Amino acid sequence: MSCFPFFSKVSSSARQDPDIDEGIQHVKLYTYNELTKATNGFSQANKIGEGGFGSVFKGRLKNGKFAAIKVLSAESRQGEKEFLTEINTIAEIQHENLVKLYGCCVEKNNRILVYNYLENNSLAQTLVGGGHSSIYFDWETRCRICVGVARGLAFLHEEVRPLIVHRDIKASNILLDKDLTPKISDFGLAKLIPSNMTHVSTRVAGTLGYLAPEYAIGGRLTRKADIYSFGVLLLEIVSGRCNTNSQLPIEEQFLLERAWDLYERKELVGLVDTSLNGEFDAEQACKFLKISLLCTQESPKLRPSMSSVVKMLTGKMNVDDSKITKPALISDFMDLKVRKNQESSNIDTTYNTSSASENQDSTMSSSVPSTTRTSTFTAQYDQSL
Ligand SMILES: Nc1ncnc2c1ncn2[C@@H]1O[C@H](COP(=O)(O)OP(=O)(O)OP(=O)(O)O)[C@@H](O)[C@H]1O
Ligand SMILES: [Mg+2]
Repeated sequence: MSCFPFFSKVSSSARQDPDIDEGIQHVKLYTYNELTKATNGFSQANKIGEGGFGSVFKGRLKNGKFAAIKVLSAESRQGEKEFLTEINTIAEIQHENLVKLYGCCVEKNNRILVYNYLENNSLAQTLVGGGHSSIYFDWETRCRICVGVARGLAFLHEEVRPLIVHRDIKASNILLDKDLTPKISDFGLAKLIPSNMTHVSTRVAGTLGYLAPEYAIGGRLTRKADIYSFGVLLLEIVSGRCNTNSQLPIEEQFLLERAWDLYERKELVGLVDTSLNGEFDAEQACKFLKISLLCTQESPKLRPSMSSVVKMLTGKMNVDDSKITKPALISDFMDLKVRKNQESSNIDTTYNTSSASENQDSTMSSSVPSTTRTSTFTAQYDQSL
């Protein structure tokens, strides 16, 4: 066996703590030694990525299975017990469209997560990665991906108890298995990170474009913030491009802005990826684009729930496009903010919040690269939406 039931191995303090034993039934514990072997000593050759949480390595476990081994950064010093409790909650959550967590390692200061390895990378490295991938996403595959992601998110929002707001829905967190089935990764992770640590990575260009303004700027965290991000992702999948691209002419740089513009001119179909060479169902594509506009409306209340989104995507519910109102554009808010800040010269682009418990205040910290100034807000978690 490649992994060990919780009580059988590692972490002497955890082993001696009956509270931990009781709460942890779903987590397999791996020894540091085992993960070192699996990844060839966490070698550069085995490194497959790096994000806001730390580095990710591909490894082969003792049972022969491949795993994605995510080494959380050194700043992550959450206590062993808290960490294991959160991990246990995450490990319990299983769905076809969610990445499976195999287990973790908590030896000394190490906090390492072991996930099912997905063969086909993320949407960020493939479909919206600017043509660097050999995978061709035909229209049917794109539809399956949209519906799959929507189902995974609806599950987190509406079926898991306590419900989970992902907080970081974006192309790099949508992984693809060998059949291109989408799996949402990193759900539940925001809770693992101490409040003083950045966990919404803006080092990856484009992250900011996924954030609902009321969350990024006002700190208001609800499921509707995820639904906004999903709307942006949906646009990316249909158009085959990243939500922001500074290489394009100014009027095309922001995908959501462009979508609204084309929608108003009744030319939405012009947003569909030209690399499909016209091989797509235009009516369905426009419907998907309208759903993304419903999801990104300025008022969180007007955005549909994820279960309604699933129904609309699958044709079980009509899309009422007479009701679509103007999207909330983070660029508008940022302009305003930066301008306001410049006036007062007392400023910000790092958002910090404090407290980490779910269902109460929650935390977010995100550095905006375009300027160096900082300010603080508190994110209120609001379950009513
Ligand atoms: N389960 C997995 N299977 C295969 N590759 C993975 C897996 N998990 C992560 N990766 C790879 O590692 C990369 C880094 O992932 P990570 O989640 O650390 O960062 P990110 O998603 O790019 O950014 P962020 O930290 O903001 O979420 C991913 O883009 C993906 O290529
Ligand atoms: Mg990720």
